[in-house]
Amino acid sequence: MQETVAFSIPALRIGSHALPNAVILAPMAGITDAPVRRMAVRYGAGLVISEMVASEALLEGHPEMVLRAEGEGVPLHAVQIAGNDPYLMGEAARVAEAAGAGIIDINMGCPAKRVTTGAAGAALLRDLPLAQAILEAVRGAVSIPVTVKTRLGWDDTASTAVDLARMAQESGLAMVTIHGRTRCQFYTGRADWTAIRAVKDAVSIPVIANGDVTAPSDGPAILDASGADGVMIGRGAQGRPWFPGRVARAIAGQHDTADPDLDEQHAVLLELYEGWLELYGRALGVRQARKHVGWALDAAAGGTGAARAGIVAGWRKRLLVLEDPAQVKAGIGAAFDDIMWRAAA
Ligand SMILES: Cc1cc2nc3c(=O)[nH]c(=O)nc-3n(C[C@H](O)[C@H](O)[C@H](O)COP(=O)(O)O)c2cc1C
Repeated sequence: MQETVAFSIPALRIGSHALPNAVILAPMAGITDAPVRRMAVRYGAGLVISEMVASEALLEGHPEMVLRAEGEGVPLHAVQIAGNDPYLMGEAARVAEAAGAGIIDINMGCPAKRVTTGAAGAALLRDLPLAQAILEAVRGAVSIPVTVKTRLGWDDTASTAVDLARMAQESGLAMVTIHGRTRCQFYTGRADWTAIRAVKDAVSIPVIANGDVTAPSDGPAILDASGADGVMIGRGAQGRPWFPGRVARAIAGQHDTADPDLDEQHAVLLELYEGWLELYGRALGVRQARKHVGWALDAAAGGTGAARAGIVAGWRKRLLVLEDPAQVKAGIGAAFDDIMWRAAA
């Protein structure tokens, strides 16, 4: 398995932390949970960030939020918090720091209506005074580095990211990540990598570029287009926890390695599966794992004859209704055999 990938160019620094490379696994609620984060680190991601944790719920000890903030097994634990109350966000940051977080990331980019109607996430792009109060409150509450993740702006008429990044720097934050879309775009269209350059030009703290990195060559390309100091990868890593490591190697100018072979991909999925059962318990773990199993089979089939023959769709249907973990694991084995056989045919 791959070791940590070190850059030949200066490593990214986040406050007092020096990362082994500048490729970061994005926070994705319901997806980048602790087993996925550990696996991404093992395969060479420079940093992983927890799923978004609602500040109030974390303070109340809500079990789902405590699970999301789980940091076991990663060398540097970054917890992302969301909310719109500066005091409560500061308190949530304190709780996360006390539980072992090494970085607090503030979510100012989530476009979901249930988040923005509570004036959190990307809604803060429309209320910069409140955004500033949050940045300062969180910064003041903890002694570990604080970072912020946001989008280009609310809509095309307001490219607020530059103002927000300046505020973040003035408030003592250590890094800003920009997803190259506006809130109103949600996930449609293409991320605008070049628009991120205005943010890079405006601040001296590290700027991370995010959006639509799905091939190893996209790593150098997004850095080139944006001038950013690092890359964050979300959906490109679904079913492929090794992908951020591959991008790190591409950026370091190393010969591009392929995805792990199918035996290794199978072993990775089984290890993740055990991790989900352990983290969530059997009933919830089986359900939580389903989407990942589908993505992993898609990744395994890739462009092979298995994908073309539509066999992954058939396996998905069969596996995703099973409730017994032993049956699911046996089915995963059979699906991988089938994919290997067709890939070789
Ligand atoms: C299912 C899903 C959940 C997400 N959850 C979060 C989250 O909890 N916090 C956050 O800042 N961004 C979240 N995002 C946004 C991603 O971190 C990332 O900014 C976005 O997907 C664009 O990057 P990509 O094109 O590499 O996926 C989520 C995205 C998806 C698709």
